[in-house]
Amino acid sequence: MRISVIGTGYLGATHAACLASLGFEVVGIDTSADKVAALSRGELPFREPGLPAMLAAGLASGRLRFSTGLSAAADCDVHFICVGTPQSRTGLSADLTAVFGVARGLGDIIERDCLIVGKSTVPVGTAAAIADVVRSTCAGHEVAVAWNPEFLREGHAVADTLRPDRLVFGVEHRDGSAVPLLRQVYAEALASGVPLHITDLPTAELAKTAANAFLATKISFINAMAELSDLAGADVVALADVLGDDTRIGRRFLDAGVGFGGGCLPKDIRALGARALELGAPATARLLGEVDDINQQARTRVVDAVLARLRAVDGNRVAVLGATFKPMSDDVRDSPALAVAGRLLGRGCDLRVFDPEGARNARAQRPDLTFAASIDAALADADVVVHLTEWPQFREIDPAAAAGRVRHPILVDARNTLDQVRWRAAGWTVQGVGRGACA
Ligand code: UGA
Repeated sequence: MRISVIGTGYLGATHAACLASLGFEVVGIDTSADKVAALSRGELPFREPGLPAMLAAGLASGRLRFSTGLSAAADCDVHFICVGTPQSRTGLSADLTAVFGVARGLGDIIERDCLIVGKSTVPVGTAAAIADVVRSTCAGHEVAVAWNPEFLREGHAVADTLRPDRLVFGVEHRDGSAVPLLRQVYAEALASGVPLHITDLPTAELAKTAANAFLATKISFINAMAELSDLAGADVVALADVLGDDTRIGRRFLDAGVGFGGGCLPKDIRALGARALELGAPATARLLGEVDDINQQARTRVVDAVLARLRAVDGNRVAVLGATFKPMSDDVRDSPALAVAGRLLGRGCDLRVFDPEGARNARAQRPDLTFAASIDAALADADVVVHLTEWPQFREIDPAAAAGRVRHPILVDARNTLDQVRWRAAGWTVQGVGRGACA
């Protein structure tokens, strides 16, 4: 079976390399000549554990290649659409220019009966519109359209692709050609017991945005409880442990802090809210709007905490620990850490930002920030230390030694993952998020 993967960003590059590792012949297609050249040399433009070796093996085997021309996909049996659906410039909805561009392009170049599978995150209803576009342009060939959403997390992309929690095949007709072809593509995962959900197209499209919206809601819910905990003198970490022991709730994604960021959750809840409004469901749009607002407030609460601590000691220098949107990633898209740093800078603070792996991307996005080359350099003469991304390196800081470097031993732990008892014992004033009972 010959497969094309169109769009070689995070999702597409991972998908293409994983499919080649399973023995398929794969062509990855992207309009960016730089990206195609880099991938063809075996260079990944982002950090993802395990993927460089898989990319190199795919290229060496001859089963994996990359091209800028969509015509390289003409003789493929299955086409995966993996292009981006960023937030539109003018509003909250998803920009579908790339997805429809690919659909039109495929309609023009297809030379045989084939299956087009959407993986990009799209507003519900897009797949049916894509099927119309492709069929109106491609003459004389049978083209099936399916939606197969992707749930991979950055930092776990290879494992999430090869052994996902579940597979979803959204199809037009359950007895058509799409299901058998997709079963062939995912034969290994299915054989290993990965649950399969065969649905219609809208359910599959919605499954992706609903999953991200639910995760975002969980995080905003616990951040709302963190605010209450601070006001009422409770401890949100202990609270999350209690809630999490209820198997109906579960402990994961109940870590209060500076809120969620990245290239997916924030844009996906906004796009789902915009789609809900279009479909005539304003209460759903309001719910998602509140999730977004609470998430923004989580950032504001951290900024306010740092400023209040600075005022108390008449200080100005802040050590910022972390810049990426989460650890084990170099991604700074919609990073809460960078947003907080940017706002502190705007309030006149003198910042030293340190991130173990995200400094290059962070500097490109915020050239106005001052970056430190080490944790120690960031801590030097700080009036407040703010912990914004929970890299393991930060848990290894010796609080006693760190106290000797700063001007004032004040820590705002905006991820609640440092050993706050130990930092206090070393003489630090520590403020967590929602840890009123521990202050
Ligand atoms: C997310 C989803 O988890 C994936 O399932 C989905 O496939 C992906 O988006 C996507 O749509 O492509 P990702 O963006 O890699 O994956 O990041 P997550 O691990 O979900 O973390 C998102 C944000 O939530 C991070 O900023 C993280 O720090 C924050 N978070 C997470 C919390 O603040 N608290 C938590 O308890 C968990």
